[in-house]
Amino acid sequence: MFNAIVLTQEGKATKAELRPVDEKELPSGDVDVAVEYSTINYKDALAITGRGAIVKKWPMVPGIDLAGRIETSGSPDWKAGDRVVVTGWGLGETTWGGLSQKARLDSRWLLALPEAYSARQAMAVGTAGFTAALCARALERHGLEPGDGEVLVTGAAGGVGSIAVAILAGMGHTVVASTGRPTEIEYLEGLGRRASSTARASPRRSACGASSTACSARRARTSAGPSTPGWRGGSRPARSGRASSAGRGSAPAGSS
Ligand SMILES: NC(=O)c1ccc[n+]([C@@H]2O[C@H](COP(=O)([O-])OP(=O)(O)OC[C@H]3O[C@@H](n4cnc5c(N)ncnc54)[C@H](OP(=O)(O)O)[C@@H]3O)[C@@H](O)[C@H]2O)c1
Repeated sequence: MFNAIVLTQEGKATKAELRPVDEKELPSGDVDVAVEYSTINYKDALAITGRGAIVKKWPMVPGIDLAGRIETSGSPDWKAGDRVVVTGWGLGETTWGGLSQKARLDSRWLLALPEAYSARQAMAVGTAGFTAALCARALERHGLEPGDGEVLVTGAAGGVGSIAVAILAGMGHTVVASTGRPTEIEYLEGLGRRASSTARASPRRSACGASSTACSARRARTSAGPSTPGWRGGSRPARSGRASSAGRGSAPAGSS
């Protein structure tokens, strides 16, 4: 037996309970993983609260990703003890996901967890961070290079947006982070600062505040922000509504 969050449907309502689960209840798969960490993705919140049509099969264990160690393997590619990470593949939607102490999975979905990462770190990045990284790589593939101009991240205080800000600043881009929550500007500026903390001699750009997601209304520069190399915090938006903050980083990719 092991513990899992199990979702069932009662009428049109979703019932979520943390309960012991018998191994016999596990779905089919050739690999059993002892789950160490998972994330709570927005999709998981929708699934657990029953507010979105996320779950396609009942009962369901939510959790769109997981990291852990293989317990038993019927695949020649994996052995007990291997550290793995899984994201996507219908986890938490069509097959049981990561909010469980154990998962039975198709071995083709597994990725080896690189030595440098603990399971906790991998899931701190999570599917949202993985998505942000794919977006940053896609921009690179389309030829975007540091110095080409500002990169606008909308929904910047969200899961994908916040990691995109950190990654892009870490890659050396000038990031304009657009958020509807002015209270998050300091947090976003902090992400840019941390990502660019290894920058020693990069040109400084001020942050901007704007009244729209397009960051069209630039505000006056200010030196009020901390003087971290490669980064200068800027003015705070004076009015409510969506606001932006910008930063420049020139640390190597992957340093954030
Ligand atoms: N999370 C994942 O693993 C994942 C994977 C693939 C694709 N996606 C997609 O990526 C997008 C972001 O996902 P997320 O997980 O980062 O969601 P999230 O954490 O909820 O962030 C979404 C952000 O969008 C902004 N936003 C919300 N309502 C808005 C509105 N009416 N107008 C303008 N901006 C608004 C908010 O940014 P501020 O708080 O800064 O205002 C919010 O924090 C979604 O479209 C999602 O489907 C996510």
